[in-house]
Amino acid sequence: EKGGFEHFMLKEIFEQPRSIADSMRGRVRADEGHLRLGGLRDYVDRLAASERIVIVGCGTSWHAGLVAEYIFEELARIPVEVEYASEFRYRNPIIQERDIVIAISQSGETADTLAAIELAKSKGATIFGVCNVVGSSIARATHAGAYTHAGPEIGVASTKAFTAQVTVLTLMALTAAHKKGTLSETLFRQLLAEMEHIPALVDQVLQKAEKVKEIAYIFTYAKNFIYLGRGLNFPVALEGALKLKEISYIHAEGYPAAEMKHGPIALIDEDMPVVVIATKDSSYEKVVSNIQEVKARKGRVIAVVTEGDEQIRSMVDFVIEIPKVHDILMPLVSVIPLQLLSYYIAVMRGRNVDQPRNLAKSVTVE
Ligand code: F6R
Repeated sequence: EKGGFEHFMLKEIFEQPRSIADSMRGRVRADEGHLRLGGLRDYVDRLAASERIVIVGCGTSWHAGLVAEYIFEELARIPVEVEYASEFRYRNPIIQERDIVIAISQSGETADTLAAIELAKSKGATIFGVCNVVGSSIARATHAGAYTHAGPEIGVASTKAFTAQVTVLTLMALTAAHKKGTLSETLFRQLLAEMEHIPALVDQVLQKAEKVKEIAYIFTYAKNFIYLGRGLNFPVALEGALKLKEISYIHAEGYPAAEMKHGPIALIDEDMPVVVIATKDSSYEKVVSNIQEVKARKGRVIAVVTEGDEQIRSMVDFVIEIPKVHDILMPLVSVIPLQLLSYYIAVMRGRNVDQPRNLAKSVTVE
């Protein structure tokens, strides 16, 4: 049942080339410039015409929402707000009939997310679901949506569901942008082609697992961790920190790299491992200076970098190389080494990786 892997979590991490491909199957044909989300068929015009999108979710699903915020705003130029479902539902939020609410949930049973949907529905919004479990309560409560096809996720810590969510949300954003005309046909086709290539790139990162394991060995007994990223890699930093907390019980925090100097920098000393996602994208130079700030205070830096990056390699303690990909698609690739790092650290600490203490796979109480 674990397919030869020691834990479901590791199996699910390694399944991602397939689960990402499955989430695109029948929806994307890059060579024909074809993109179709069947479940949104009757709602594409409404999505493209929307003046605001509100995304709700919890935990990892909320992180996928933060990634989607960047992508929708960049490609479709629609303002997006991302809310914790638990805050949204008790806040008397302003929701108008023209708003689209996207609810993200692997299980489709999260109580707060379901309640957020009911509230938004009562105010007349159109609700889309991005769920993994077919026929789940959330899937049934929405007007329309697109399933992630990640397959059953057994490990409590979400991995393949996250990348499947980001995949489907990216397809939604591309659908809206294409319909609206905010994206050139050339870039539209280029992004579709790059998306079709993502499973192969994720596979390349998975082949670095041994290297990540060596780093995990060195930091097994760290008491704290900081994760930094900018732009689309900021939510990835949050997700990396959450994974580590959940399964290894090490205190970890994710921050937008530039926020560090507004407080968290005080935590940095020679005992503080700092994971920096520092890929070659539009914020690269800024992240390089954030790394310098950490090194100047003797922090130990593990950097996730783009293949062939010599500049950062010469500055930091450890690097994990990942292949180059368009900025928009980066989280699908950059999150992989962070999943592996948390997994190996937890295993080395002897934790129950698939069923960490105090956590349940679906949170059906508020
Ligand atoms: C993270 C994790 C939780 C869930 C959250 C939402 O690894 O498992 O943070 O992401 O409880 O669950 P769903 O997506 O089922 O609504």
